[in-house]
Amino acid sequence: MSRRSKQVLAAVACAALGALAAGSAAAQNGAADGKAVFDKWCAPCHGDGPGKPGTNALQALYKGTKPALLEKRTDLTPDVVKTFVRNGVSVMPFFRKTEISDADLAALAAYLAR
Ligand code: HEC
Repeated sequence: MSRRSKQVLAAVACAALGALAAGSAAAQNGAADGKAVFDKWCAPCHGDGPGKPGTNALQALYKGTKPALLEKRTDLTPDVVKTFVRNGVSVMPFFRKTEISDADLAALAAYLAR
């Protein structure tokens, strides 16, 4: 192998390693941030404001005895959150591990159960 192609190979290998390192750092940051997971996957239905099916359904279900917004609830445990997220309920879909990893779900559950 020529000196030149060795250099090219080494550069490619370094770039690949760099990309891997950046990817896992991003995954770790994401896993630590339950609010970011919520904003991405849950807020479209459980956010504040009009036309949010999750918020509307919980308003109808609890009629104000519990906050319709999940982020305002104080009675959610991590296990309850995980069960709903992995199984879904009514029109709420379940979420696969390829969508919300176990680490992301742990952060999300801790965020909502605070
Ligand atoms: C497509 C809209 C939709 C999405 C996305 C969604 N949900 Fe829901 N969720 C609902 C609806 C609607 C209900 C109420 C179902 C019912 O009538 O019991 C619900 C119910 C729940 C409940 C049960 C609350 C209770 O007291 O019964 C939890 C917990 C919950 N969602 C968590 C989440 C989390 C966490 C996410 C994000 C990972 C999420 N949901 C994403 C629509 C959604």
